[in-house]
Amino acid sequence: MEPHVRPASAVPDPALIARSWWDRNAEEYLSEHPSLGDIRFQWGPEGWTEEELQLLPDRPGRILEIGAGAAQCSRWLAAAGHSPVASDVSSGMLKAAALLNERTGVHFPLVQADVTALPFADASFDTVFTAFGALSFLPDLSPPFAEILRVLAPGGWWIYSVTHPFSWVFPDSPHAADLTVIRPYGTGDAYVEEDRGRADYAEFPHTIADHINGLTGAGFRIESVLEPGWKAGNEETWGAWGPDRGAMLPGTLIVSAQRPAS
Ligand SMILES: C[S@@+](CC[C@H](N)C(=O)[O-])C[C@H]1O[C@@H](n2cnc3c(N)ncnc32)[C@H](O)[C@@H]1O
Repeated sequence: MEPHVRPASAVPDPALIARSWWDRNAEEYLSEHPSLGDIRFQWGPEGWTEEELQLLPDRPGRILEIGAGAAQCSRWLAAAGHSPVASDVSSGMLKAAALLNERTGVHFPLVQADVTALPFADASFDTVFTAFGALSFLPDLSPPFAEILRVLAPGGWWIYSVTHPFSWVFPDSPHAADLTVIRPYGTGDAYVEEDRGRADYAEFPHTIADHINGLTGAGFRIESVLEPGWKAGNEETWGAWGPDRGAMLPGTLIVSAQRPAS
């Protein structure tokens, strides 16, 4: 379904809309995407895993995942001997995470939290990360980036993947033949699905400039930016992501940034 385009200011309380949508759709989302696995750290639908990309620091220290969903990434880290804390705004997603912890026998703390108001002390983590969590559901990247910087110790790392900023101008189709621009880039508008005239789901496209300026404005130093290609052998289609379109255009942006040591 093509979303409606609405001014971001016309979407009331985006965090509440996100929480309520993910609460209601947690089970369906997880059953539609079995490739997420139970104990698996995948950075995006291209299929690249943390084991392959090695984007987290060698010694990640105290780890926080934001927008963790069912926390498959944290579970993979915990199974590898780390001690992550996984957080998400949705109790529905965290319930799924708790069930998976029981089923797999891999346990770590699960905390319900909005990324713009994290219930953690200043400088309490060395690595914060997310694979597609939280950011696209917020109109402005500055509040989450400031909050993540606050909970990171000096010298700590913030690594995240998001929908590639260019994706938003194209139809929500995995076919390369559909790569025709249908919406302007960088308008600040929200893409909204509505139920009886009210926003039921809202995502906020961010531009490359929003990411760079948001990070540096919050006080981060950008270490690297990755636009991973489609992984050979991955035949899965996920919304607009798939092997056909993925061969032509990156669908995911991965950013690694550091809170300066001093
Ligand atoms: C696409 S899922 C990503 C989760 C997981 N990494 C995955 O790949 O399935 C997006 C997650 O972001 C969470 N989220 C949305 N807005 C948030 C916010 N303001 N703070 C924290 N989490 C949020 C949702 O509840 C959802 O679990």
